[in-house]
Amino acid sequence: MDQQVHTNDRGSFGSNIGFLLSAIGSAVGLGNIWGFPYKMGKCGGFTFLLIYLCLAVFVGFAIMMGELALGRKTGLGPVNAYKAISKKFKWVGWLAVAGGFFVLTFYMVLGGYCIYYVVINLIGIFGNMPDSSSFGAMITNPGLSIGVTAVFFLICWAINRGGVAGGIEKFNNIGMPALFVMLIIVIIRALTMPHAAEGLKFMFVPGYATKMTEFGQFVESTPGVLSILATAGGQMFFSLSLGMSAMITYGSYLDKKANLPKNSGIIVFADTFIAMLAGIAVIPAAVANGIAQGLTVDQIKLNGPGLLFSTLQDVFHNMGAIGGIFGVIFYVLVLIAAISSAISVIEGVAVTFIDHASAKGKEPSRTRAVTLTCVILAAFSILVAADGLGSNGIAPWQFFKLGEEAIANWNDCWLDFFDLVAEGILMPLGAMLMACMMGWELKPKFMEDEIKQGSNGGAMGFWGFCIKFICPVVMFFIVLVQVSDFFGLGWF
Ligand code: PHE
Repeated sequence: MDQQVHTNDRGSFGSNIGFLLSAIGSAVGLGNIWGFPYKMGKCGGFTFLLIYLCLAVFVGFAIMMGELALGRKTGLGPVNAYKAISKKFKWVGWLAVAGGFFVLTFYMVLGGYCIYYVVINLIGIFGNMPDSSSFGAMITNPGLSIGVTAVFFLICWAINRGGVAGGIEKFNNIGMPALFVMLIIVIIRALTMPHAAEGLKFMFVPGYATKMTEFGQFVESTPGVLSILATAGGQMFFSLSLGMSAMITYGSYLDKKANLPKNSGIIVFADTFIAMLAGIAVIPAAVANGIAQGLTVDQIKLNGPGLLFSTLQDVFHNMGAIGGIFGVIFYVLVLIAAISSAISVIEGVAVTFIDHASAKGKEPSRTRAVTLTCVILAAFSILVAADGLGSNGIAPWQFFKLGEEAIANWNDCWLDFFDLVAEGILMPLGAMLMACMMGWELKPKFMEDEIKQGSNGGAMGFWGFCIKFICPVVMFFIVLVQVSDFFGLGWF
């Protein structure tokens, strides 16, 4: 491990709790707020939750611990960590860095949208409360979208440039507790709205969501176990920030005395818990407001950007002046969640430059690494921002009307294309190969020393079994599902 370097520009976490808050910050993001509750509602409530938890324990936990152990053992970011320990899987680190990078291309734009929503709700407190029409107005305005994205870039750049303890950890130490408090405030408001119970039923009562659609335009059949497994698997994987270089990198900044199994367990638990809380905050409010306006549940947009920036903005609008205050609290909460996720992946990309300089015997510059990362990323994010989720039609295949007949998702817009590359292919493939490397090439024993540092090693047997037998199979399944999903192949 002669490449092991710990210069000031590389950095490390100041405390275990700072690490935990940062890792939880990475995991808790837009995926928790707009993906989890909806998927849970549509896929059988508690059945989905149960399957999700099983996957989180047997796959999420094992890959989380694998990534943290890999980072800590080598003291390096993904690209150099794989190079340092594997012959066959040398190149897999690049999948993680590229996967994280492509997620960021659109995540930065969504972060910019959050900033815009904080501002318009703030203005709304004193004047006219914005409603759902703000969303269309924002995305069809490329100048505005690029502008707010640039502000989001600046915030993240400043935090990452501040270092691990001085930037990332500091932000999360304050941001994550604040997020939690704000979430509780929003939950209390949401649950005291009339009809809020309908929203809770949507999430928790199996079959309720599908039954309600019968009163609307279409009837959906209850999804089968395989499709629930597929949905839960993809969600779990993205939500835990796995396969996108963040956790390997954070692991490389972690104290040697820290307990890896315990930390991994806490991160997985906290991410799931906050996803549930976010659901309890968001779904009842959206459903209650929709019903009050005479809509049926299937007519209310309950997932994706539409939920976050259009449906919920209507909820705040209908609360009157006080809605501005809740709007600001809510969008600041979402903004914190977005920043804490984005900085973890920016770090995962930037550390590649830092480690590269160290390996060449040069003194690495954090400022240069972070700036370079942000500049390259910005070139891609501009496309996503200008495209406005496809509404401005600047993607080349859209412009030339290519592949229109295909009932696929990848060609809807730049965001979907980058999402396919990252979430659909690079990330799950990278994680599957990592499990193969640890379980079969190096064998679980290779990580034993690392895992036993700071823990009694009791998790070793369980981890070894999961990483060797369960993870490769499940990850392979997730790759298939993502590909089938994006190309509309209908395999599952
Ligand atoms: N875990 C994040 C989420 O649920 C995913 C993510 C992490 C996206 C880091 C981008 C950067 O939203």
